[in-house]
Amino acid sequence: MKGKICGTGAYVPGNRMDNHQIAAFVETSDEWIKERTGVEARRIASGEETTVSMACAAGRRAIDDAGISVGEIDLIIVSTTSSNLILPCTACEVQRELGAEQATCFDLSAACTGFLLAYNTALAYINCGVYHTALLIGSECLSNLMDWKDRGTCILFGDGAGAVVLKGTEGEMYLPSTRSEGAKGAALTCKSRHDWSNLHDESGAAAMQDPDHRIGMDGQAVFRFALKRVPEVIGEVLQENQLRKEDITLYILHQANKRIVEAVAKRLEEPIEKFPMNMQEYGNTSSASIPILLDELNRSGRLHEGDKLVLAGFGAGLTWGAAVVEW
Ligand code: ACO
Repeated sequence: MKGKICGTGAYVPGNRMDNHQIAAFVETSDEWIKERTGVEARRIASGEETTVSMACAAGRRAIDDAGISVGEIDLIIVSTTSSNLILPCTACEVQRELGAEQATCFDLSAACTGFLLAYNTALAYINCGVYHTALLIGSECLSNLMDWKDRGTCILFGDGAGAVVLKGTEGEMYLPSTRSEGAKGAALTCKSRHDWSNLHDESGAAAMQDPDHRIGMDGQAVFRFALKRVPEVIGEVLQENQLRKEDITLYILHQANKRIVEAVAKRLEEPIEKFPMNMQEYGNTSSASIPILLDELNRSGRLHEGDKLVLAGFGAGLTWGAAVVEW
């Protein structure tokens, strides 16, 4: 058995914050951010928007696009590092909201590689015949975890959610290639899992002021890691599945930084046109970035039956990996 993506969906908050707005509260500029990252704006959750609400909206759109009934879904995996609750998990909250009563639900936490690992996990289950129809969601409300005084990180990230429906069909599955290197975890850290602003006791207040409880990053270390590991793992996944670069229609990379995507294209000696990007508009939405981009491509008619896509994620952990998807 193999898994086939038969529907996509996405949701991003309407609240758009451009680089000029960020430059009003940290010392930076639109030119600096655009030149170093490619990001021009990001969406920030407001009002009732949460990791769960965005996940549900993206999930509903993917289910509609797939043309299946909610009752067919027997697995929901939500990839997130920014759930609004620790318990219950976001996937169970999504199940409740969607009424997907037949589904087994759990969250997966692997930062920007999370969606790719959710895809691989569902694929393995489908391949073994354990589950048949999976709803996979990447949903992040990173604005809750941001140190808004740190210009090195707050310029990068955004909120949003993307989803796919993966259904079992006859055929051979492509094997994924994934890696982790916990020894290098210090390059990208965050100790907080929820919004400390609700805590009024002393420990909560102290945590609020402690930048360790917000996203912290050694930007150059992450940059070097991505440049080395992403082309490497893409090469591995192609070799593993006996595919050539010419067989690949598009490379859908985690949308961390335009310079990273351009450098990966160069190292692979592939034209930049095969690397669609949307971080200009949404920033880095961590595990939501790959499914948001997939949904954009799907809805704009850029994906055709039989196209072979490479999905590649990389991020905190450190973790990275690639998978081949046949559309
Ligand atoms: N505006 C203006 N100046 C800035 C800003 C800013 N927003 N941020 C940092 N600077 C300054 C620094 O203070 C430093 O000044 P100094 O020389 O006076 O000390 C100077 O710019 C250079 O700082 P660096 O950190 O060396 O800047 P760099 O060129 O590495 O760019 C960046 C920083 C954009 C974060 C880069 O390292 C990068 O893109 N790294 C990749 C990390 C990434 O994409 N992470 C995403 C999350 S992880 C993931 O999704 C995988």
